[in-house]
Amino acid sequence: MLKVDAKTPQIGKIRIAARFIKAGGLVAFPTETVYGLGADALNAEAVRGLFEAKKRPLDNPPIVHVCDIKDACKLVEEVPPRAERLMRAFWPGPLTLILKRSRIVPDVTVAGLDTIAVRMPRHKVALALISESQSPISAPSANLAGKPSPTTAKHVIDDLDGRIDAVLDAGPTAIGVESTVLDVTVDPPQVLRPGGTTFESLKQILGSVKLDPAVTAEKPVAVGQVRSPGMKHKHYAPNAQVVVVEGQSSAVVSRVDELVAYYMGRGSKVGVLCTDETVDCHKADIVKSLGSRSNLATVARNLFASLREFDLQGVDVIVAEGVPLRGLGLAVMNRLRKASGYKIVKANGTN
Ligand code: TXA
Ligand code: MG
Repeated sequence: MLKVDAKTPQIGKIRIAARFIKAGGLVAFPTETVYGLGADALNAEAVRGLFEAKKRPLDNPPIVHVCDIKDACKLVEEVPPRAERLMRAFWPGPLTLILKRSRIVPDVTVAGLDTIAVRMPRHKVALALISESQSPISAPSANLAGKPSPTTAKHVIDDLDGRIDAVLDAGPTAIGVESTVLDVTVDPPQVLRPGGTTFESLKQILGSVKLDPAVTAEKPVAVGQVRSPGMKHKHYAPNAQVVVVEGQSSAVVSRVDELVAYYMGRGSKVGVLCTDETVDCHKADIVKSLGSRSNLATVARNLFASLREFDLQGVDVIVAEGVPLRGLGLAVMNRLRKASGYKIVKANGTN
């Protein structure tokens, strides 16, 4: 465990971590979104180790992280003008671009696809590690496959202790949900995973941009319709069963309470995940607020840690209030719906 300062990372510690990367090892490190588990993206053996440590299916390629635009260009066949515009507008930052990959990238790094996911993170520790490693770094989120992504070094250790070489600990991450994955090989570009860069801000730069139907899906997507490998795998799920209640706020509150009573009546330990506006309305074994609904950045920042806390507290069922789909709310709802296995209750409707 290497503790580093997030604003002025100690170069000695970064170099220790970089030595592991260069030797084909695995190092977890903070980004502005979540902690990533890094390996040398150009070392096929190291990347294979990455999949193994995470128990991640080999058909789901991780994101390749770079520390400048020039390095991104080496990994891809071409950078279309709109991709360049996006890099200039959003990098370093929580936007991953899907581009045609170049030949220097090993097959395993992209799971045999002819495209690659590239991003430049906005975190000094991440950028210093990539730069000192002198190679792009493949880094999925540093959790066991299927678990909520880690927003602290402790979450990383809880999942991966003994399976990786080092963790750079720079405290909790700022954004709390992963980067937005945008496919720029198609016209108009398409959001495959909503994340830290909002759809609204992409629209401002691109004019025309689409959401893949899976992003807002309320049912699991049929495997034949999947456009990103990550869409077909189980994701973000705590051990507890999650139920999401969506609709108008007052209707949601009473529907949540009905569900809490139902599950508690069956002897389950029940947690409610809600916001500051409703936290005093609920009674359950544990009630947690993600922050104010008017500040969806806070809600996003607290989401994964709260899901993990419920597990540590031995909750059997988490009843979660939905949040608005605007801004970072789109990423939050996408994660919550997936975590629930699409167990979604409409407060105004009938199901
Ligand atoms: O914020 C983040 O993006 C974090 C931090 C560590 O940077 N990383 C992260 O990586 O979330 P990962 O590997 O857990 O998620 C990458 C997502 C997956 O859903 C994967 O299926 C998708 O990107 N992806 C990767 N390569 C792709 C490709 N060539 N085409 C379409 N989707 C791709
Ligand atoms: Mg992940």
